[in-house]
Amino acid sequence: MTDILVTQSGPVLEIVLNRPEKKNALTRAMYDGIVDAFKRGEGDPAVRVMLITGAGDTFCAGNDIGDFQVRATADEAFHASPFLDVLSTLAKPLIAAVNGQAVGVGTTMLAHADLVLAVHGARFVMPFTSLGLVPEAASSLLFPRLVGLQRASALLLLGEPIDAATAHHWGLVNQVVGAEALMPTARALAERLAALPPAAVRQTKDLIRNGAPDVPGRIAQELVQFRDRLRSPEAAEAFQAFKEKRKADFSRFS
Ligand code: COA
Repeated sequence: MTDILVTQSGPVLEIVLNRPEKKNALTRAMYDGIVDAFKRGEGDPAVRVMLITGAGDTFCAGNDIGDFQVRATADEAFHASPFLDVLSTLAKPLIAAVNGQAVGVGTTMLAHADLVLAVHGARFVMPFTSLGLVPEAASSLLFPRLVGLQRASALLLLGEPIDAATAHHWGLVNQVVGAEALMPTARALAERLAALPPAAVRQTKDLIRNGAPDVPGRIAQELVQFRDRLRSPEAAEAFQAFKEKRKADFSRFS
């Protein structure tokens, strides 16, 4: 599967959308390739962080429009469904390094990434209505939460494109960097995440994504987990390292 490149560098699994001649538009086979990579990352205790980026000048031009046409006549289930199921339930953190344009699912997938970096020239657009379509990947739920109702309406109703600076200002992107700095910055962030206690990271991600919707419920849920965490080997190592005035080493945990 050469349209999806997967490499592992220590605790970081890197996934590259590698169809630059078609602006990394996602075919069914590519969705399947990403699903395989995500499953590999989730299943391998050595992997602590996943990172996704695109080859060439585009992050992802969205779903392959040719595939859309085939599917419209083939009466089959949406072939991105398994991708969306896995993407939206990843237990391990996902970093997106947006190296250029992000169209359709190229942008909606970012709401499922835990940290998003983008190059100065990145551009984000979700042109669903102009294609006679509706939002996907729970973007109609997540974007209003992420950027606010009116901004989400401009993005999803009008299909208004935004540049990297606006995406940063609106909270879709954590940091905007030069093209040469993108992968070094993304990898450094991945290493930082990977050096943290892995179970604490996974539980924190789960609380952020799936915690109880009300304050009392969330406090109660956090307390239960906090108590368990206090007794965890990860916390024991952190406390001991503090007492011994050394850097904590969480490398033996998974
Ligand atoms: N599906 C299929 N092919 C696509 C594609 C897509 N989503 N996006 C780009 N391509 C193909 C183009 O057809 C072209 O193929 P060709 O060289 O055989 O003619 C090639 O990729 C390069 O695209 P091009 O449009 O020439 O590049 P660009 O830099 O001028 O523009 C985009 C890049 C991403 C802005 C533009 O290609 C685009 O708008 N694509 C459609 C995005 C879209 O609507 N996606 C669906 C969202 S739901």
